[in-house]
Amino acid sequence: MASPLQRLCFLNGLTSVLAFWVLVNDTGPERSGHVAAWDAGGQQFLIHGGSDTEFRPDLWAYDAETGTWDLAPQLNSAALKRGEHVAVWDPRELALWIHGGFDGVTLFNDVWRYSDNRWIHFAGGPGEAPTARSSHVAVWDTAQSAMWLHGGLGGDLQDDLWKFSYRSLSSSSWVQIHPIDNRLPSARAHHAAAWDEINSAMWVHGGYDSQGPLL
Ligand SMILES: *[C@@H]1O[C@H](CO)[C@@H](O)[C@H](O)[C@H]1NC(C)=O
Repeated sequence: MASPLQRLCFLNGLTSVLAFWVLVNDTGPERSGHVAAWDAGGQQFLIHGGSDTEFRPDLWAYDAETGTWDLAPQLNSAALKRGEHVAVWDPRELALWIHGGFDGVTLFNDVWRYSDNRWIHFAGGPGEAPTARSSHVAVWDTAQSAMWLHGGLGGDLQDDLWKFSYRSLSSSSWVQIHPIDNRLPSARAHHAAAWDEINSAMWVHGGYDSQGPLL
C-alpha cells in the first residue's frame, strides 16, 4: 500500500478562499510517524523515517519538477531508524536537521544534519543537552542558525525549551532556555509549533498532557 501525497492549491492567488486539493502522486512510501520538510530551492518534499510495518531509516524525496519519488542518497552512515522524531529545514544552507525519536525500543537524543547527500551526527551529550525524547516539536531559526526544541515524551512528559546553535561541525551547542518569570506551557507531547522569522518568536499549540488533549 502506498501513501498519497497531496498539495493544497489556491484559485486567484493566495488570499483567495477558493482552494482545492490536488492528489500529486499516490505511489510514495507508506508511512506514519515520519517527518517532512520542504526544500524550496530544490523544489522537493523530503520525508524521513517513520514506520510502515516497522520503523525505517530511509530518506525519500519527491521531486516536484520531475514528479517522481526517489530514495535520497545517504552516502555515509545514515541516522538510525526512528519515528515520532522532529525535522526542520535550513533554507540558507540547504540542510535537513532531525532530532530524537523512538525505534520501538530506544528513545534518541542525538542530532543529525543532512546536506550534500551526507549525514553528520551530533551526539546528545556530553554536557547540557535535552534528554532523549519523541513526539516533541522543533522549529528552525534561520537568522541564528538554530533549532529550537520543546517538550515531548522522554519517560515523562517534558516542559523544557532548548536551543541548538549550529556554528560549525566542531562547534555547536545546546542551551536550555528558562523563562525569567517561570511561566511556561505545561508539559506536553504531540503538540505543534512554528517559528516567526520576523519577530524571532516560537509559537506552540495544543498537544497531550497526562490528563488528555490540551485545548
Ligand atoms: C509517482 O511517482 C512514481 C515513483 O517515482 C512515478 O513512477 C510515477 O510516474 C509518479 N506518478 C505520477 C502520476 O506522476
